[in-house]
Amino acid sequence: MSHKIAIYPGSFDPVTFGHLDILSRGLQVFDEIIVAVLHNSRKDPLFSVEERVHLLEQATADLSGVHVDHFEGLLVDYVKTQHAGVVLRGLRAISDFEYELQIAAINKHLDSQMETCFMMTSSKYSFLSSSMVKEAARYGGSVDRLVPADVAAALKKKFAND
Ligand code: PNS
Repeated sequence: MSHKIAIYPGSFDPVTFGHLDILSRGLQVFDEIIVAVLHNSRKDPLFSVEERVHLLEQATADLSGVHVDHFEGLLVDYVKTQHAGVVLRGLRAISDFEYELQIAAINKHLDSQMETCFMMTSSKYSFLSSSMVKEAARYGGSVDRLVPADVAAALKKKFAND
Protein backbone atom coordinates (compact mmCIF):
# COMPACT_ATOMS: atom_id res chain seq x y z
CA MET A 1 0.00 0.00 0.00
CA SER A 2 1.34 3.45 -0.86
CA HIS A 3 1.94 6.05 1.84
CA LYS A 4 -0.57 8.82 1.17
CA ILE A 5 0.76 12.30 1.93
CA ALA A 6 -1.34 15.46 1.77
CA ILE A 7 -0.25 19.07 2.11
CA TYR A 8 -2.57 21.28 4.17
CA PRO A 9 -1.53 24.83 3.21
CA GLY A 10 -2.72 28.13 4.62
CA SER A 11 -2.00 31.28 6.55
CA PHE A 12 -2.97 29.80 9.95
CA ASP A 13 -2.89 33.25 11.55
CA PRO A 14 -3.59 31.68 14.03
CA VAL A 15 -4.60 28.00 14.00
CA THR A 16 -8.22 27.43 15.17
CA PHE A 17 -10.28 24.41 16.21
CA GLY A 18 -11.68 24.49 12.66
CA HIS A 19 -8.23 23.74 11.22
CA LEU A 20 -7.67 21.01 13.83
CA ASP A 21 -11.02 19.46 12.93
CA ILE A 22 -9.95 19.21 9.28
CA LEU A 23 -6.58 17.76 10.32
CA SER A 24 -7.94 15.06 12.61
CA ARG A 25 -10.53 14.02 10.02
CA GLY A 26 -7.94 14.25 7.24
CA LEU A 27 -5.86 11.66 9.09
CA GLN A 28 -8.64 9.16 8.45
CA VAL A 29 -7.95 9.56 4.73
CA PHE A 30 -4.21 10.30 4.56
CA ASP A 31 -1.29 8.58 6.31
CA GLU A 32 0.62 11.83 6.71
CA ILE A 33 -0.40 15.48 6.54
CA ILE A 34 2.10 18.30 6.27
CA VAL A 35 0.68 21.59 7.50
CA ALA A 36 2.39 24.23 5.37
CA VAL A 37 2.36 27.82 6.62
CA LEU A 38 2.65 30.36 3.82
CA HIS A 39 5.17 33.22 4.00
CA ASN A 40 2.78 35.70 2.45
CA SER A 41 4.40 39.05 1.78
CA ARG A 42 1.12 40.55 0.55
CA LYS A 43 -0.72 39.94 3.82
CA ASP A 44 0.01 41.63 7.12
CA PRO A 45 -0.19 38.73 9.57
CA LEU A 46 -0.64 39.16 13.31
CA PHE A 47 1.78 36.31 14.08
CA SER A 48 5.16 35.77 12.42
CA VAL A 49 5.71 32.56 10.45
CA GLU A 50 7.84 31.25 13.34
CA GLU A 51 5.07 31.99 15.85
CA ARG A 52 2.41 30.38 13.66
CA VAL A 53 4.56 27.26 13.17
CA HIS A 54 5.20 27.06 16.91
CA LEU A 55 1.48 27.39 17.77
CA LEU A 56 0.65 24.72 15.18
CA GLU A 57 3.32 22.39 16.57
CA GLN A 58 1.86 22.75 20.06
CA ALA A 59 -1.71 22.27 18.77
CA THR A 60 -0.88 19.14 16.75
CA ALA A 61 1.54 17.50 19.20
CA ASP A 62 -0.99 14.70 19.87
CA LEU A 63 -1.80 14.08 16.21
CA SER A 64 0.66 11.48 15.01
CA GLY A 65 1.13 11.72 11.26
CA VAL A 66 0.97 15.53 11.26
CA HIS A 67 4.08 17.62 10.60
CA VAL A 68 4.38 21.39 10.46
CA ASP A 69 6.46 23.24 7.89
CA HIS A 70 6.47 26.60 6.07
CA PHE A 71 6.91 27.56 2.46
CA GLU A 72 7.43 30.47 0.12
CA GLY A 73 6.53 30.75 -3.55
CA LEU A 74 4.15 28.55 -5.48
CA LEU A 75 2.21 25.86 -3.67
CA VAL A 76 2.57 23.45 -6.63
CA ASP A 77 6.37 23.68 -6.33
CA TYR A 78 6.28 23.06 -2.59
CA VAL A 79 3.98 20.06 -3.07
CA LYS A 80 6.53 18.52 -5.46
CA THR A 81 9.42 19.01 -3.03
CA GLN A 82 7.45 17.01 -0.45
CA HIS A 83 6.62 14.23 -2.95
CA ALA A 84 2.94 14.74 -2.26
CA GLY A 85 0.31 14.91 -4.99
CA VAL A 86 -2.64 16.10 -2.95
CA VAL A 87 -3.56 19.38 -1.31
CA LEU A 88 -6.11 19.30 1.49
CA ARG A 89 -8.41 22.29 2.07
CA GLY A 90 -11.39 22.83 4.34
CA LEU A 91 -14.68 24.22 3.03
CA ARG A 92 -16.95 25.99 5.50
CA ALA A 93 -19.70 27.54 3.46
CA ILE A 94 -20.78 28.59 -0.02
CA SER A 95 -18.80 31.79 0.54
CA ASP A 96 -15.56 29.75 0.57
CA PHE A 97 -16.41 27.97 -2.64
CA GLU A 98 -15.49 30.61 -5.23
CA TYR A 99 -12.13 31.38 -3.61
CA GLU A 100 -11.29 27.69 -3.27
CA LEU A 101 -12.40 26.95 -6.82
CA GLN A 102 -10.03 29.64 -8.11
CA ILE A 103 -7.08 28.33 -6.09
CA ALA A 104 -7.74 24.73 -7.17
CA ALA A 105 -8.14 25.78 -10.81
CA ILE A 106 -4.92 27.82 -10.97
CA ASN A 107 -3.03 25.02 -9.25
CA LYS A 108 -4.40 22.51 -11.77
CA HIS A 109 -3.33 24.87 -14.55
CA LEU A 110 0.19 25.12 -13.08
CA ASP A 111 0.49 21.38 -12.45
CA SER A 112 -2.05 19.03 -13.99
CA GLN A 113 -0.86 16.18 -11.73
CA MET A 114 -1.86 17.94 -8.55
CA GLU A 115 -5.23 17.23 -6.95
CA THR A 116 -7.10 19.26 -4.35
CA CYS A 117 -9.18 17.38 -1.82
CA PHE A 118 -11.88 19.35 0.02
CA MET A 119 -13.29 18.39 3.35
CA MET A 120 -16.41 20.02 4.79
CA THR A 121 -15.70 21.67 8.12
CA SER A 122 -17.88 20.28 10.93
CA SER A 123 -21.00 22.45 11.27
CA LYS A 124 -20.08 23.59 14.77
CA TYR A 125 -17.04 25.36 13.25
CA SER A 126 -18.72 26.58 10.07
CA PHE A 127 -18.65 30.22 11.28
CA LEU A 128 -15.09 30.04 12.56
CA SER A 129 -12.18 31.81 10.88
CA SER A 130 -8.80 33.11 12.04
CA SER A 131 -9.98 36.64 11.16
CA MET A 132 -13.08 36.37 13.39
CA VAL A 133 -10.97 34.98 16.22
CA LYS A 134 -8.53 37.90 15.95
CA GLU A 135 -11.37 40.41 15.85
CA ALA A 136 -13.02 38.91 18.95
CA ALA A 137 -9.74 38.67 20.86
CA ARG A 138 -8.68 42.21 19.91
CA TYR A 139 -11.73 43.63 21.70
CA GLY A 140 -11.48 41.34 24.72
CA GLY A 141 -13.99 38.65 23.66
CA SER A 142 -13.48 35.10 24.88
CA VAL A 143 -12.00 32.76 22.26
CA ASP A 144 -11.43 29.84 24.62
CA ARG A 145 -13.85 27.55 22.79
CA LEU A 146 -12.54 28.53 19.35
CA VAL A 147 -8.79 28.01 19.65
CA PRO A 148 -6.39 25.89 21.75
CA ALA A 149 -5.36 27.37 25.14
CA ASP A 150 -1.84 28.24 23.90
CA VAL A 151 -3.32 30.22 21.01
CA ALA A 152 -5.78 32.04 23.30
CA ALA A 153 -2.86 32.98 25.57
CA ALA A 154 -0.75 34.15 22.61
CA LEU A 155 -3.65 36.32 21.37
CA LYS A 156 -4.10 37.84 24.81
CA LYS A 157 -0.41 38.70 24.92
CA LYS A 158 -0.45 40.25 21.42
CA PHE A 159 -3.40 42.50 22.22
CA ALA A 160 -2.35 43.31 25.81
CA ASN A 161 -0.79 46.59 24.77
CA ASP A 162 -3.50 47.71 22.32
O1 PNS B 1 -5.30 30.29 4.53
P1 PNS B 1 -5.30 30.97 3.20
O2 PNS B 1 -4.64 32.33 3.31
O3 PNS B 1 -6.66 31.04 2.59
O4 PNS B 1 -4.39 30.05 2.23
C1 PNS B 1 -4.16 30.42 0.87
C2 PNS B 1 -3.05 29.55 0.23
C3 PNS B 1 -1.84 29.49 1.12
C4 PNS B 1 -3.57 28.14 0.02
C5 PNS B 1 -2.71 30.18 -1.16
O5 PNS B 1 -2.59 31.56 -1.02
C6 PNS B 1 -1.40 29.65 -1.75
O6 PNS B 1 -1.26 28.48 -2.00
N1 PNS B 1 -0.42 30.55 -1.93
C7 PNS B 1 0.90 30.21 -2.43
C8 PNS B 1 1.19 30.90 -3.78
C9 PNS B 1 0.51 30.14 -4.90
O7 PNS B 1 0.79 29.00 -5.15
N2 PNS B 1 -0.44 30.83 -5.57
C10 PNS B 1 -1.21 30.21 -6.63
C11 PNS B 1 -2.48 29.57 -6.08
S1 PNS B 1 -3.47 30.77 -5.22
